[in-house]
Amino acid sequence: MKVIVVASRKGGSGKTTLAGHLAVQAELAGAGPVAMVDADPQGSLADWWNKRVAETPVFVQTSVPDLPDDIARLRDLGIQLLVIDTPPALSSAIADVIRLSDLVVIPSRPSPHDLLSLGATVELVEHLGRPLVFVLNGAAPRARITNEAITILSQYGMLAPVIVHQRVDFAASMIDGRTVMELPGKSRSAEEVLALWRYLSGRLSGFARPVALPSLPPLPPVGRLAASGGPARSGFL
Ligand SMILES: Nc1ncnc2c1ncn2[C@@H]1O[C@H](COP(=O)(O)OP(=O)(O)O)[C@@H](O)[C@H]1O
Ligand SMILES: [Mg+2]
Repeated sequence: MKVIVVASRKGGSGKTTLAGHLAVQAELAGAGPVAMVDADPQGSLADWWNKRVAETPVFVQTSVPDLPDDIARLRDLGIQLLVIDTPPALSSAIADVIRLSDLVVIPSRPSPHDLLSLGATVELVEHLGRPLVFVLNGAAPRARITNEAITILSQYGMLAPVIVHQRVDFAASMIDGRTVMELPGKSRSAEEVLALWRYLSGRLSGFARPVALPSLPPLPPVGRLAASGGPARSGFL
């Protein structure tokens, strides 16, 4: 069994959205059975799951102290993937959760505030010796800030080569416990989640399958974001 922890100090970056979508996508892709844990006391992932009609992925009610034993139990039950959502904080409880992960997914919106908050999360995850991957979420297509964020994040070589764009169906689908993949018809959002899952599943199994990055216009100099109040590379980590 593999454990994905979705973490970031920044609220609203897309942790709960990605946790739910990746869990459902993994199940749809045949990588299940998948289980989910909501380690955020706010309980957004649990609220979403309670509205679900589909019975999978399963939801596990636990606590951070009980998590190691529950993970062992889930493994014995044949669960193949556990996805854990976390609160927007960096507490010792979150460190305890991250310690149990095979991969930490760190969503970031392409905004200076999100990018600036990444350093502390990265520091904690690296201190704990866990592998991590950034996922650019809520990106506006063709926006300069998106390209700047790609430049900054990819300098660290840990950026998923799949960008999740800002689309209303992410929020709309979750209102009644679904995901974009479970809405009728095809969508770009669902394609992105599938591509992201494929990449992450490659990372989990020890190799990264090649996924094409969208073609991008020429990138602006990295210093520009710093000059406009955003993070400079040296001050990022
Ligand atoms: N790619 C996206 N496109 C549109 N809305 C999004 C996207 N990702 C997240 N959201 C919305 O942004 C808000 C915050 O996302 P959420 O997943 O709850 O963040 P977090 O768990 O990090 O606080 C929610 O209303 C969610 O529906
Ligand atoms: Mg959340």
